[in-house]
Amino acid sequence: MKILITGGAGFIGSHVVRLFVNKYKNYKIYNLDLLTYAGNLENLKDVENNPNYQFIKGDINDSDFINSIFKTYQFDAVIHLAAESHVDRSITDPLSFVRTNIFGTVNLLNAAKEIWKNNYSSKLFYHISTDEVYGTLGDTGLFTETTSYDPNSPYSASKASSDHFVRAYGETYNLPYVITNCSNNYGANQFPEKLIPLFINNIINNKELPVYGDGNYTRDWLYVADHAIAIDFVFHEGKRNETYNIGGFNEWKNIDLIKLLCQQMDNKLNRPKGTSEKLIKFVKDRPGHDLRYAIDASKIKNSLGWGPSVTFEEGLKLTIDWYLSNSEWLDNVTSGNYQKYYSIQYGHN
Ligand code: NAD
Ligand code: TYD
Repeated sequence: MKILITGGAGFIGSHVVRLFVNKYKNYKIYNLDLLTYAGNLENLKDVENNPNYQFIKGDINDSDFINSIFKTYQFDAVIHLAAESHVDRSITDPLSFVRTNIFGTVNLLNAAKEIWKNNYSSKLFYHISTDEVYGTLGDTGLFTETTSYDPNSPYSASKASSDHFVRAYGETYNLPYVITNCSNNYGANQFPEKLIPLFINNIINNKELPVYGDGNYTRDWLYVADHAIAIDFVFHEGKRNETYNIGGFNEWKNIDLIKLLCQQMDNKLNRPKGTSEKLIKFVKDRPGHDLRYAIDASKIKNSLGWGPSVTFEEGLKLTIDWYLSNSEWLDNVTSGNYQKYYSIQYGHN
């Protein structure tokens, strides 16, 4: 089987590529990535010389290029992760989210439809999406697969739109697809713009920890390796033309999570208890900030037997250990443009 994985040099994509390359020696894995600020081939150093792996640099927004690689390589399946993925960036530059997340996805759908149209059997377009398409919850309730879409940020609106296009290609052209909507991921190789790696990096450097609003926002956190395993389950056993929610059964208020992170960082860095917490600074809230995300992952659990394997405390320790022992990776990704991003987003370096 020849599988095209898009966005494989990014955070989640690199974990998916590694899992598939190592586990399925008889598959050929093609990783298509533009290597934007979020993509980094360092993430895949350990698999880059495997004979069943090939990197293709390119842009999913370039339809001619996308059509040509589908013709050349005749992929049997696509696992589509390439995206602009950060809510704060979508607030400052919504159009780049429209381009990559919507147009880019439709380019891939068109290419897959064209190449597969005479024989859809055993083909699959697997679209990786987010729980943010469902909008926000109040203090109670969970997102299920039938919750109405109600996106609030340009990021989630662009992901919602791409989900609709995938479903529409299934209905209109019989394109075989699956969609998964996952909660917040954390773990190794996450770019330090998202909450957990940003705060780890700031604690290492004794920089302020900018908590949006009052910090009483809730997210459901899943260790990235468990997400990759869920993707493997759904890719091989998921029912075609269905959606699965993936979550960690693990809700945390931001401020509680940040305090736990601070404690673990103090331990690891041998700093006196309470040192990192002193760096917390409540800052202006994110516009349109969703109060709470929480996933009901019982469909994937009951029908495919998937569940998270790592507790949050364990996953957070593994994550901190990874960042502390990969300071070169962190230095590389936080040089250059990162400084500019940081000063625009947070008002100072
Ligand atoms: P990421 O930002 O770390 O990686 C995105 C990757 O896509 C990068 O390697 C980047 O170079 C590549 N890319 C961006 N634009 C491209 C283009 N035009 N052409 C080709 N490649 C391009 O993102 P992530 O956190 O790994 O998320 C991956 C997917 O999972 C996204 O679709 C995201 O919406 C979804 N998701 C993420 C989370 C999360 O918590 N991070 C949760 C649920 C779903
Ligand atoms: P983030 O990692 O950006 O993921 P998402 O917005 O997709 O859930 O943010 C997680 C939570 O942390 C969210 O409620 C916003 C909050 N947050 C902060 O308080 N400060 C920050 O600097 C960042 C990046 C996020």
